[in-house]
Amino acid sequence: MRSLSRHAPRGRELLLLFTVLCWKSSWGSMSSGLVENYEAAMVLSAAGDALGYNNHKWEFCRSGEKIHKELAKLGGVENIDVKDWIVSDDTVMHIATAEALVEAGKDTDPAKLYPLLAKKYKESMDDMDGRAPGGTCMSNAMSLDPECPDGWKIPFEKHGGGCGAAMRAMCIGLRFPNPEQLDELIRVSIESGRMTHHHPTGYLGSLASALFTSYAINRKPPHEWGKALLDVLPKARAYVVESGRNVKENLDSWSFFETRWTSYLTLRDILDGKSQAKFPEKYGVEERDTFYSFLSYSGWGGSSGHDAPMIAYDAILGSGDCWTELSNRGFFHGGDSDSTAAIGASWWGAMYGFKDVPKANYKKLEYRERLEKLGRDLYQLTLSQGSQPNSK
Ligand code: AR6
Ligand code: MG
Repeated sequence: MRSLSRHAPRGRELLLLFTVLCWKSSWGSMSSGLVENYEAAMVLSAAGDALGYNNHKWEFCRSGEKIHKELAKLGGVENIDVKDWIVSDDTVMHIATAEALVEAGKDTDPAKLYPLLAKKYKESMDDMDGRAPGGTCMSNAMSLDPECPDGWKIPFEKHGGGCGAAMRAMCIGLRFPNPEQLDELIRVSIESGRMTHHHPTGYLGSLASALFTSYAINRKPPHEWGKALLDVLPKARAYVVESGRNVKENLDSWSFFETRWTSYLTLRDILDGKSQAKFPEKYGVEERDTFYSFLSYSGWGGSSGHDAPMIAYDAILGSGDCWTELSNRGFFHGGDSDSTAAIGASWWGAMYGFKDVPKANYKKLEYRERLEKLGRDLYQLTLSQGSQPNSK
C-alpha cells in the first residue's frame, strides 16, 4: 500500500490535490464550524448512548411506553442531567475505534491500522464494568492478538450478526468523508467490524454506520442515504470476495442485510433515493415499538447489524433538526435503545452540531473531553488528507 504523495506520478498528484482542494472549499462554504460537527458527532453519540442506556435500566426495558412514562416524570429529555448517567459499552468501543484511527494518523495501511484497532478493542474490555457489553463483542475482542501478524482476524461466525460492530463505527465516516475515500471507508468499516462480528449482517452494520456519518458530514439529504447504501453494497461484496476470507460463508449469508434494507426503504417509499419518506399517520411510541420489533431479527429491535442503523435512520428521517424528537424516536424505545441512540445521535451531531441540544444532556457527560478531542483530532486528520485509499 503506497502513499500517493511518495509514489504517484506528478499528474495524478496534481489531480488529487485539485480534488481535495475543491472538496475542502465546498466544505468551507457549507459550514464554517465544521469542527463543531466533528465534536458533536462524537459527544452526542455518547450522550445518546447514556440517555438510551439509563444506567442499564432502559436498554433492557421492553416497553417504550414505560420508558416514556418514566421520562415524563424526569421532566422530559430537556431536564436530564447526564452527570450520573454513565456511557455504555457502545461509547467505550466507539472511543476505541476513534483512538486507533487517530493514533494511526495519516497512515491507514492495514499492517499498521488493523493491529491498532485490535489492541484498542481488546483493551476496551478493561473498561466494561456496569456497561453491559454484548456477548459477541466481549468474547471476540478478548480473543484478538494484536501482537501477531494475523491476530486481528477471527473465524466466520453464524451468530456474529449483532449490532456490536455497527455501534462503534460512526467515527470511520468522520475519518473518510471524502467521496474519493469510499474504498477506504468500506475496507476499514468491514475489517474493524469483523474483528468481532465476522458475519455480513454484523459488519455491514458497521459499513452503514460509517457511510451515513460520511453523508451526514457532507450534508447529503437523509432521504437519499438508504438508496446510496444499496448502491455501495456491490462494492462491499467485491471487497469481501477480493479479501479472500471465508468467502463462501460470507456470500451465503450476504442477502439478509440487503433484503431487509430494500424492504424497509420500499416501505418508507425512498427506494428511489429521491422521494421524501412517508410515515404512517399514527406513529407514536406504541406503533414505533411494534415496527422496530418487526424490523428485528428476533424481536429485540435494534440489536442486530441491519436494524440498529435502520432504526437510527428511521428516527433521523422523522426528526429533522429536532433533538427532542430524535430522542423520542431513536433513544427511548423498547429494544436495544442505547445502540440506536449512539448511532442516530452521531449522525445528527454530524449534521447539526450542538444546535439547541440542552446542555444538561452532554455538559457533564462521562468522557466528554476525551470525545471532543477525538472529534477535533479526526477533523485535523481529515483536513490533512495525505494518503490515497488502499485497495485492501
Ligand atoms: N443475524 C442477525 N442478528 C443476529 C445474528 C445474525 N446472524 N446473530 C445474532 N444476532 P450480542 P453484540 C442478534 O448479544 O453484538 C451491548 O448491550 C442476536 O439475536 O452478541 O456483541 C450493546 O449496547 C442478539 O440479540 O451483542 C448492544 O446492545 C443480537 O444479535 C450489544 O451489546 C446482539 O448480539 C451489541 O453487542
Ligand atoms: Mg450498550
